[in-house]
Amino acid sequence: METILASNRRKIGDFEVVEFVDESQIESVRKKLDVDVPLELHWTWEYGSEVEELRALYERGKRGQWNAETDIDWSIPLPRDEWFMPQIGGALMPSVLTQMGADEATCREAAWDEFSHLISQLLHGEQAALQLCGQLVNTCPTMDQKWYAGSQVIDEVRHVEVFSKFLHRKMGVVHPIDPTLKVLLDKLLAAPTWQTKCLGMQTLFEGMAVGIMDLVQRANTNPLIKEMITRVHQDEARHAAFGILTMRRLVKESDPETLAELEDFAFNILETLNANQQLDMLHRFGPKYGLDPESVVQATHGWDQWSFINSEPFMHTVVPNLMRLGLITERTEQKYRDCGILFGDHLTARSTLPEV
Ligand SMILES: [Fe+2]
Ligand SMILES: [Fe+2]
Repeated sequence: METILASNRRKIGDFEVVEFVDESQIESVRKKLDVDVPLELHWTWEYGSEVEELRALYERGKRGQWNAETDIDWSIPLPRDEWFMPQIGGALMPSVLTQMGADEATCREAAWDEFSHLISQLLHGEQAALQLCGQLVNTCPTMDQKWYAGSQVIDEVRHVEVFSKFLHRKMGVVHPIDPTLKVLLDKLLAAPTWQTKCLGMQTLFEGMAVGIMDLVQRANTNPLIKEMITRVHQDEARHAAFGILTMRRLVKESDPETLAELEDFAFNILETLNANQQLDMLHRFGPKYGLDPESVVQATHGWDQWSFINSEPFMHTVVPNLMRLGLITERTEQKYRDCGILFGDHLTARSTLPEV
């Protein structure tokens, strides 16, 4: 099985992390703006609907359109000197700094930096979703899929719009993309077949986005952020339903060899994402707050609840969906458990995805 970013890996304790420490390597990853992506374009002459549920979802998508400029109340303030998340448990740096005895203003500033960093990464992720969804319009075989993917393109444009306006208007900064995220997004965009593109976009990507947004939503108390995330989240739930519908058929029609390829592809992406352990963020802000990235990873891995907390964004949606699709099997399940992505037994209990 392929190891992504093999030369950027090392052990912290027993855990294998992926990190970027060389500034010139980080810069070269960010400067890679042109990505060679394989794309097989399919025509179809069947304009009638072949998959009724997909047409219904397309209709739902049309009804669910909203305007990021006029449907969001941009007059709601986001004061920098007020908490909009709990001091402990809302984000990593303020939690660790509080434990270390830092003063409240410092913890609040760290929360601000970490949140603007997170929304910046979501913004870059939305741009990738936009690009990848555009590929799906070309590459998906049926007209139902093309129509739906086409309607999702405008949703993803709106997400890029709303997050970039939020960052510019309310936080005054857009942080550059984390190098690990950039490498992984390039992998998804350069996935070789429409099947891997669908898996990457609709299951991995959408699943992670829904999990992270739900966690942000639970911790956040600012009404503007709540409104923005609620609206984006509604669109993402529809995208996830498209993913389930499409992936179910795709899995049913795939041979064992293709299924094994999809299973490995999913594991490699999620394992690498998890192996970063927020080190890209910690390398960026650690010096400002006197935090040593390695010590932070060591400290969090010592928490009693580490496995549970670490697995939360994964266990929310993406892991239960992969299990349901049969893309986590005995071959990979233990590996997911060993790196702290898969935790507990009741895999579907916490998923918010609709049964379709
Ligand atoms: Fe999106
Ligand atoms: Fe989406």
